Parts: sequence; C-alpha cells; structure tokens
Amino acid sequence: MPDSKHPYPKNPYSRRKDEHLALATRFHGDDNGLDQVHFVHQSLPAVATDQVDIGTAFLGRHFPTPLYINAMTGGSARAKVINGQLATIAARLHLPLATGSLSAALKLPVLADSFTIVRENDPDGFILANIGADKTVADAQAAVRLLAANALQIHVNVVQETIMPEGSVTPDWLAHIQAIAAAVDVPVVVKEVGFGMSAETLAQLAAAGITTVDISGRGGTNFAEIENARRPDHAYAYLADWGLTTVQSVLESRAFPGTILASGGIRDPLQVLKALRLGASGVGVAGAVLRPLEKEGPEAAEAMLRQWLAQLPALFALVNADTITALKKQPIWYDELLLSYARQRRLV
Ligand code: FNR
Repeated sequence: MPDSKHPYPKNPYSRRKDEHLALATRFHGDDNGLDQVHFVHQSLPAVATDQVDIGTAFLGRHFPTPLYINAMTGGSARAKVINGQLATIAARLHLPLATGSLSAALKLPVLADSFTIVRENDPDGFILANIGADKTVADAQAAVRLLAANALQIHVNVVQETIMPEGSVTPDWLAHIQAIAAAVDVPVVVKEVGFGMSAETLAQLAAAGITTVDISGRGGTNFAEIENARRPDHAYAYLADWGLTTVQSVLESRAFPGTILASGGIRDPLQVLKALRLGASGVGVAGAVLRPLEKEGPEAAEAMLRQWLAQLPALFALVNADTITALKKQPIWYDELLLSYARQRRLV
C-alpha cells in the first residue's frame, strides 16, 4: 500500500525511473569531443567582463543566459523530490527546466504530482514537458496541459529502446513528430538522449517542419550502458560507444535551418562557450547537475551552476566577445581527429 514515504502504488514505471536515476550517476563518459576544439588565445583584452551580455533567444523567448536544465525525471517518489529540487534551482537562477518523459504520468495519473511539483516550485519559469516520439497528439497535448508547459521536448531514443528490455522501435516516429508539432500550441524541440544527431536526421526533421532541435550527443550520460545494466543478460555491452559525440553532432547541424540547442556531457563553462561558438543558441545540462545533487545535495548543484553562470562573462571577455553573436566569429581550431571527421562528412 502507498504510504508517505512511498506515496505511489508499486508499478513498473516508478521502478524504471528509480533505476535510471541510480544508474545515471554510474554510467557516464567524460569525453563529448568538445575538448578537440580550441579557441586561439589573444593577449590584449578588447572587452570588459561587465560589458558582456550572455543573453540568448530560443523557442520564442529571450533568456538572460544560455544554460538550461535538461530532461531527467519524474514518476517516482525519489523523482518527485529531485524534480522539486531542480525546479527550485531553476527558479532561483532563471534557467529553463525540462522534466523527464511524462509518459508514466499519462499511463498512471497518480504519478502526475511527481512532475507537477516543478510548476509548484517554479510557477513563473520556462518549463519544458517531455514525451517520446512514439506518442500521439492527444498524449502530447495532455503532457503540455499537465505542466502548463511553455514548450514541448519530443525525445528520439532509438538506441535506448533497442537495448532496454521493455523497449520498442517503430518506423512511425517522424510522422508522430510532424503531427504533434503541427497540433500543439507551444514550440517543440526534438531531442536526442545522448546519442547525437546526424545531418541526415536533421534534414528529415527540418523537412517535417521542426525548427528547434537538441542534438544531445554522446560523451556524458550513457543510456546504452544504463539500459544494458538493467538487462539481466547485459547482452548489449558492445553498443556502449554508439552514437555521435556532442561536438560531431553540432558540426553535423551546420546546414540545419533552425535553432540548435546542444547538450551531452557538458561539464564546465568552457564547454558551454565552445558549443555556443560552434552554433548552439542554448546549452543543456543533465548529468553534471544530477551528480552533485545526488551526492552532496541541491545546494551543491546550485552552487556549481552559479559558478558556471558567474564565470561565463569572464570567458566571453577572454575570447574578446561581448555577445553570443560576437563569440560565433572568434577564431578556433580543431584537433586532427575532429578535422578528419569533419572532412569525411564534408562539414568543412
Ligand atoms: C535523462 N534524459 C532524458 N531525456 C529525455 O528526453 N527524456 C527523459 O525522460 C530522460 N530521462 C533521463 C534520466 C536521467 C536520470 C538522465 C541523467 C538523463 C537524457 C538527458 O536529457 C540528456 O539528453 C542526456 O542525459 C545527455 O546529457 P548529459 O546528461 O550528458 O548532460
């Protein structure tokens, strides 16, 4: 029976969400490829830190900073606590926040308050609802309504579905995405879950009318390893390195006509700077926020993000950029490996 510590009846969705939370702190990489990009150092300052404006715009809104907290959780008692903490941090720092996939709440409405806590704790914030590309227009509309969401993330997670014991992949996702984007009355982001996006995928999404993507690349939270660990037979260990890194994906997005959001293994403010330089309008963080939050508490996660936000203007000044527009013009160079990738894919 539910009690105050376990307010929800036993169910497979809550169990899966708790497994994801536990395994995400164990299975993550530390190489999203952004280390292969370097700014050319300049010795004479041209911009004062207090002149820097790190503001940006995406999904029809202006934001004071380019950072957002990406989709993670909901659907269990533990997830409710974490969503509440993330929303408090997002409210204090004025960061957009995405919840984890709402499909659990759509299937089992008693779980809804583990998601709606984000609206309670961040009533005026920019909240993104999240659902899978296998969902219907009605599901998408219900997800947006539940959170009074400002935008909707539709996740594409084919590797995860392939490996997870209860997963399923059907070739109708693009049709669902197109139908949902046309029907919902908030802006839509199509996002990966840490496997990156190719130029081919991005061209298909653009043709389907999608104008904002989160390329969420490989190199941070690793759902191939997480789902493999959830399988009793651990039969897909060899897929641990599948996917395009975050840096590869941002290069792949060069021809995308819309807005690029970048995430996947972002672990410090310099990586935020590099993602913006390569074309992103916003930068998402999931695992790097979850880990201090789980290990040391929400104060530690908030302190880390505060430090990133405080350091970003100084880093802009370091590369002589007073805005994101100016940043995108600063000279950079690539390590040989990344240059080889870009050449093979005809991206340079
Ligand atoms: C995720 N992520 C995710 N994404 C999504 O679209 N829907 C979801 O429900 C979840 N669930 C989820 C749970 C947990 C515990 C984590 C850590 C992550 C994926 C996330 O939004 C992001 O795309 C990847 O984690 C890559 O970014 P990081 O974690 O490397 O910064």
